[in-house]
Amino acid sequence: MSVAGGGAHIVVLPGDGIGPEVMAAARRLLDELGAFEVEEQLVGGASIDAHGTPLTDDVLAACRAADAVLLGAVGGPRWDSRGPGSPRPEQGLLGLRKGMELFANLRPVRPIPALLDASPLRRERIEGTDLLVVRELTGGIYFGDSGRRGDEAFDTCVYSVTEIERIAEVAFSLARRRVTSVDKANVLETSRLWRETVERVAAAHEEVDLDHMLVDNAAMQLVARPSAFDVILTENMFGDILSDEAAMLTGSIGMLPSASVGAGGPGVFEPVHGSAPDIAGTGRANPLAMFGSVAMMLRYGLDRERDAARIESALDRALEGGLRTPDLGGSASTEEATRAVLANL
Ligand code: NAD
Ligand code: IPM
Ligand code: MN
Repeated sequence: MSVAGGGAHIVVLPGDGIGPEVMAAARRLLDELGAFEVEEQLVGGASIDAHGTPLTDDVLAACRAADAVLLGAVGGPRWDSRGPGSPRPEQGLLGLRKGMELFANLRPVRPIPALLDASPLRRERIEGTDLLVVRELTGGIYFGDSGRRGDEAFDTCVYSVTEIERIAEVAFSLARRRVTSVDKANVLETSRLWRETVERVAAAHEEVDLDHMLVDNAAMQLVARPSAFDVILTENMFGDILSDEAAMLTGSIGMLPSASVGAGGPGVFEPVHGSAPDIAGTGRANPLAMFGSVAMMLRYGLDRERDAARIESALDRALEGGLRTPDLGGSASTEEATRAVLANL
């Protein structure tokens, strides 16, 4: 999956809302680094409008054939209320993850020193936080049987031992000292299977400590003692929710990047945030989560560690120089933020 040097083939999927805005900014960063072959394709609502489906077979095939995929965000009110059975933008994202077997979503939460006072949490709480959410991405309630039955609706949460083992292996391989496995084993059978299976995987990784935490407590501990965590290993929906919460440790959801990887094929690199319909079209989107995702793509998807580090230090320096988009309490536009980062590259 990795390509040393230049010439890598990247499929970019801007998507909807602020997705195309932050993607345009990311492409300027890629232009600056040079030597990428970039292919733009539709996903989400944009693909529904053009083709009636949020992910075409051709786009999935193009993503599978790429060296890496960069995604903006999908979704928006325009496609939300079209009645049951109508295609939804989010299905495109889920189809991409499933179709590319991206079972591991890595969401690093490392507050940048310049932003320690941009968080609603006090600096002393946040200092020293350097955690990684390892979120299972192709199973659980997102992919179980669901539907309507008379006046009822249902979504089913299913996990197999194999699915739990492979995501637990990822977590233990990335942990430096501790894996905190987050579940709801006091209520859910899938969580009890999760716990048993994670225990077994842990036995082969004696150098890493394991503890278990119930998800409600984990949500509280994340804001009470975030620096105590190393790797948080959790199932699909808990990981979705906890990572948005953890984003506030960095000051804004507009700061958090992610990598979705799996069975060895190309990864999808995407900010954690969504299409932000409330600010789409205003030029106020923070492009830094997207830039961080470009850095993760360079590091994990394309084996270009030096370029990844260059981007990350440009982000740090731009923020040290006072760059603040509105989500961070400032007034810099997407354009100004992009220029500030490019100037520090
Ligand atoms: P959201 O992440 O889009 O927005 C939540 C809040 O954070 C909003 O106030 C928004 O303005 C702000 N925000 C998000 N990203 C920002 C950025 N880069 N800069 C500044 N502010 C930012 O979540 P939502 O409003 O719950 O969802 C909106 C749509 O996005 C929904 O259709 C949802 O399904 C979709 N969504 C997509 C993805 C994805 O494509 N990966 C992720 C999450 C949500
Ligand atoms: C995310 C998003 C997606 C998810 C939605 C849009 C399907 O919230 O990537 O975090 O829930 O996984
Ligand atoms: Mn989410």
